[in-house]
Amino acid sequence: MKSFLSVRDLGPDEMRSLVEKASELRDVLDLGGEVEPVLRQRCVANLFFEPSTRTRLSFDLAARRLGADVITFNPETASTSKGESLRDTALTVSSMGVDVLVVRHRDDGVPRAVSEWTGVPVVNAGDGTNEHPTQALVDLVTMQRHFGALEGIHLGIVGDISHSRVAGSLVAAAMSLGVRVTLIAPEHWLPSGVAVPARNDLDGALADLDVVYLLRVQTERGGQISDEYVERFQLGKDRLGSLGEKTIVMHPGPINRGVELSDDVADSPRSHILEQVRNGVPCRMTVLRALVAT
Ligand code: NCD
Repeated sequence: MKSFLSVRDLGPDEMRSLVEKASELRDVLDLGGEVEPVLRQRCVANLFFEPSTRTRLSFDLAARRLGADVITFNPETASTSKGESLRDTALTVSSMGVDVLVVRHRDDGVPRAVSEWTGVPVVNAGDGTNEHPTQALVDLVTMQRHFGALEGIHLGIVGDISHSRVAGSLVAAAMSLGVRVTLIAPEHWLPSGVAVPARNDLDGALADLDVVYLLRVQTERGGQISDEYVERFQLGKDRLGSLGEKTIVMHPGPINRGVELSDDVADSPRSHILEQVRNGVPCRMTVLRALVAT
């Protein structure tokens, strides 16, 4: 694997293999086992032009666990604030002898552009409304570990789907591995031209779902929170009773309590949100390892 820019660049076998390897690594980390420092004397640069907590920190920890040096770019204190272009910033960082660039940006396509400008392996850590491929890997690993297999699981993705890069990667990756996907949102948040079953009534959908995957309303990308949205689509205590026995609740974070989910749901045993976070480190280690192995 030269770069990890889009789940669409990988075939199902390659994606399945990443899921298996990441899940095995999670077991190794849980048991406190040794991990070979395959990134020793290598450098991973985090270029995050948008805010991030779990993605940036988990890449940081993942790289360090593999023995890498890590440098982190902060757009507020860097020369981009003096007018340096994105291309010049990318070329400057890559010229320091960086082995992997981890890139997040508000515009679609920036990680791919950075990989073309620099020739350095790039991981897409979220670009605009396009893709967030390592989050999809995290989510597949979380589901596989809970259900034992991905084939046939019914995943309902709820909320601001049209602005969501998380959904952009997860829908394609999940379907390629045999997961049944239903999109659940008000009409204006359902992406047009996507051949995936969709509905606008959460109440009618819940009983049949194995995973209720909630999304944050992307207010920074034009999504607007309304009372009607909260009323119709918030997963609250009253709706928990409609879930099947093994059904879990997932969310990529950051969560907005009181909007897409209530406190009771966020803190209930149904919630696998912190389990997703926990899977973030082995997943990102697996991706970094795949990049340096080629
Ligand atoms: C998401 C993102 O930034 O795309 N968060 C994440 O990386 N876990 C989702 C979001 O911001 O809503």
